[in-house]
Amino acid sequence: MKTVLITGANKGIGREVARQLTAKGFHVFVGARNAKAGRKAAEEIAKQGGKATFLEIDVANNDSVTSAAGEFSEMADHLDVLVNNAGIIVDGDDAILEISDDLLQKTLATNTLGALRVTRAFAPLLRKSKAPRVINVSSGGGQLTGGADGWAPAYCISKTALNGVTMQLAAALPKFTVNSVCPGWVRTDMGGENASRSVEEGADTIVWLASEAPQDLTGKFLRDRKEIPW
Ligand SMILES: NC(=O)c1ccc[n+]([C@@H]2O[C@H](COP(=O)([O-])OP(=O)(O)OC[C@H]3O[C@@H](n4cnc5c(N)ncnc54)[C@H](OP(=O)(O)O)[C@@H]3O)[C@@H](O)[C@H]2O)c1
Repeated sequence: MKTVLITGANKGIGREVARQLTAKGFHVFVGARNAKAGRKAAEEIAKQGGKATFLEIDVANNDSVTSAAGEFSEMADHLDVLVNNAGIIVDGDDAILEISDDLLQKTLATNTLGALRVTRAFAPLLRKSKAPRVINVSSGGGQLTGGADGWAPAYCISKTALNGVTMQLAAALPKFTVNSVCPGWVRTDMGGENASRSVEEGADTIVWLASEAPQDLTGKFLRDRKEIPW
């Protein structure tokens, strides 16, 4: 049975990716920092049929990530797909010079270092897969092509740096596929109710990369199953 871990899967895009991959026959590990919400999400997904298991993981905390990898290895002997989905946005339309060090560090600790930290901790389990895949959920806000427009600079910088992490991991791990995805503007707690896409649409490219995309597609930034510029 193929295994997948999705971080931040108790709600939003992560939860929808978990739901779809469970329906496709994966054993899905529903990663969440909030145990109550994560357990509830895993139970609800499993009720629709398939295998979904809660895994407590706070991507901003190295001890939590290390413990999660240990706990995972007691339940499964390999990991096929890692979806680094957990993310936060704590700045609004602040001007870049108004951002505090704390705010930027907090954002980077989750959105950028979080993804690297989880990949590092689970790399030994991913190496045991025949076709390991890492999917970093990034954002068009992190694109350098076309320039910035001033919106949420700490968040955008964290996603630009996450794309750097994707490129570095793709170079270092030639047997893996490692890609960044922009889900588009999606109706979640983060995206808000006016966003143009449903969670199903936001999850689509992530689910495709996890299950169907060619194994030689690596080191790319994608939206709607197509490559987009960094
Ligand atoms: N929605 C959009 O329009 C949009 C657009 C582009 C990119 N994205 C990206 O898509 C991803 C998912 O976003 P979403 O819209 O689904 O947002 P969301 O509904 O706010 O969900 C974010 C998820 O990340 C989790 N999370 C945050 N910090 C965490 C940590 N330290 N450890 C573990 N989990 C943590 C949250 O857990 P809690 O419930 O405990 O807070 C929640 O499960 C993010 O990376 C986001 O940047 C979203």
